[in-house]
Amino acid sequence: MAQGHAPVLEVQDLRTYFYTRTGVVKAVDGVSFSLKEGETLGVVGESGSGKSMTALSIMGLVPQPAGKIVGGKVLLEGEDLLQKTPAEMQHIRGQKLCMILQDPMTSLNPVYTVGNQLIETLRLKPGNRGRGIKERAIELLSKVKIAAPEARIGNYPHQMSGGMRQRVVGAIAIAGAPKVLIADEATTSLDATIQYQYLQLLRELQEDTGLSIIFITHDFGIVAKMCDRVAVMYAGRLVELAPVRELFNKPAHPYTEALMRSVPNVDEEVDHLYAIEGQPPALDKLPTGCSFAPRCPYAFERCVQEYPSSVTVGESHYAHCWKLL
Ligand SMILES: Nc1ncnc2c1ncn2[C@@H]1O[C@H](COP(=O)(O)OP(=O)(O)O)[C@@H](O)[C@H]1O
Ligand code: SF4
Ligand SMILES: [Mg+2]
Repeated sequence: MAQGHAPVLEVQDLRTYFYTRTGVVKAVDGVSFSLKEGETLGVVGESGSGKSMTALSIMGLVPQPAGKIVGGKVLLEGEDLLQKTPAEMQHIRGQKLCMILQDPMTSLNPVYTVGNQLIETLRLKPGNRGRGIKERAIELLSKVKIAAPEARIGNYPHQMSGGMRQRVVGAIAIAGAPKVLIADEATTSLDATIQYQYLQLLRELQEDTGLSIIFITHDFGIVAKMCDRVAVMYAGRLVELAPVRELFNKPAHPYTEALMRSVPNVDEEVDHLYAIEGQPPALDKLPTGCSFAPRCPYAFERCVQEYPSSVTVGESHYAHCWKLL
């Protein structure tokens, strides 16, 4: 988890809304964070809090036409991705940015061999044409620890196990030597051993290449193992951001506190779905003040009047909560 200095990715005040018949759903509502070279940022929060939409907004893949990025900036190496054309974004996705999803089958095309799919991605990179490209594909498969890659390259996805498919997706993801990889619940469907190997693999790749990773997960065990910093999302907003140890030792936001309490043992390697009393607010009917107020045991008058500003609670540790002022 070596870290460089300059941010590779900077997300500033990102807003992604859905325009539905019943109203405007604020799926991502003013999210800001940055990511350094070689850094891993974990993103946690209950289902529906805007984690995937934040990722898809960065990737330029917000579901159309209902979804729309209505504000903010996504700076990748200083260039604003929100100003790019769809064709430019497609190019950037092949080369600088990539995303791994929960179900590897959604990222793989069942009618092409894994070799073809790898080569396709490799071809996107200028200079990566002609002879030698198949060897490069085999090399990538062996890099993700697929045994007998020369034979496996001719396999169709359905001829592989789930864990193997997820590793192929990993190989495709790194084929373009991206700067930023976003893993959205990417290991949820894997059993514990395969998951561990996959995480290990991601870390090795990161050490080799200086890749920056955004790791979306509901598993605090993974956060502890993989991440340098953690962002906590609630109702479309980032409510706390802290170095991983700091977050575990001194959670500042009452929501983070509740999240941690809902996980019996941080070192346990099982999938935990959070269970906090009450429901998150509907994103088209957000309260005026703090969105957590209806569930917060500490709520006081100011909380229902005004959205809390960012409070610095430690080194590189911020939280949006009035009680911390
Ligand atoms: N196609 C859609 N139409 C309307 N609202 C949507 C759509 N997709 C997602 N949303 C809204 O965006 C919110 C955030 O979704 P998402 O980012 O997928 O959450 P998470 O990944 O944290 O579980 C959801 O709670 C939902 O209200
Ligand atoms: S601002 Fe108020 S309601 Fe919101 S988390 Fe802090 S104490 Fe709770
Ligand atoms: Mg999601």
